Amino acid sequence: MTDQAPRPEGDIPGKPTAASRTTLSHIMTGSDTNLLGTVHGGVIMKLVDDAAGAVAGRHSGGPAVTASMDEMVFLEPVRVGDLVHVRAQVNWTGRSSMEVGVRVMAERWNESTPAQQVGSAYLVFAAVDADGKPRPVPHVIPETERDKRRYQEAQIRRTHRLARRRAIKELREKRAADGIED
Ligand SMILES: CC(C)(COP(=O)(O)OP(=O)(O)OC[C@H]1O[C@@H](n2cnc3c(N)ncnc32)[C@H](O)[C@@H]1OP(=O)(O)O)[C@@H](O)C(=O)NCCC(=O)NCCS
Repeated sequence: MTDQAPRPEGDIPGKPTAASRTTLSHIMTGSDTNLLGTVHGGVIMKLVDDAAGAVAGRHSGGPAVTASMDEMVFLEPVRVGDLVHVRAQVNWTGRSSMEVGVRVMAERWNESTPAQQVGSAYLVFAAVDADGKPRPVPHVIPETERDKRRYQEAQIRRTHRLARRRAIKELREKRAADGIED
């Protein structure tokens, strides 16, 4: 059960999650560090955005732009020499937007242990046409139980994002109507 909205006739055919899932791998170097000597969070965020953008482009069959990035979590420090794998997949699709889930794994350069999860994030991408206007995307078809869970969780995040934006917009409008300036 994925709670997918009914799609109109003549709609773009859907695509399974697995069709655009990808992994971006990168070895961290001395130029990636912060003042503590570990890898700068912004370097990881760039990789996350790159991997998510690649997935969004592959799923939507054209250009897609980052609309938002939320719940970026850093669990463990990444060090120079570590091999970082950024795994990304489309979790959910709307009309023109896609939520991409990203998991960041690190293989320690000096340990023969399995890759360790060091971060995760959820990004919303909007597919755009040549004029930068939103265009429709194929609906994602979650196939495995894990993909179905991620789809359902993404719907919850989508509902909360919209509700939060609406509530803040209404608050600002009310303050403006009351003549409050800040
Ligand atoms: C993202 C962008 C295309 C949205 O354009 P818009 O005119 O607001 O269009 P819409 O309101 O129809 O939004 C398009 C879709 O994106 C979603 N969306 C827009 N802003 C969002 C946000 N902040 N968070 C989550 N989703 C968002 C909408 O819900 C909608 O989804 P749906 O079609 O699946 O229902 C536009 O704001 C933009 O171009 N932003 C700049 C993107 C960019 O340059 N990113 C790189 C940063 S340098």
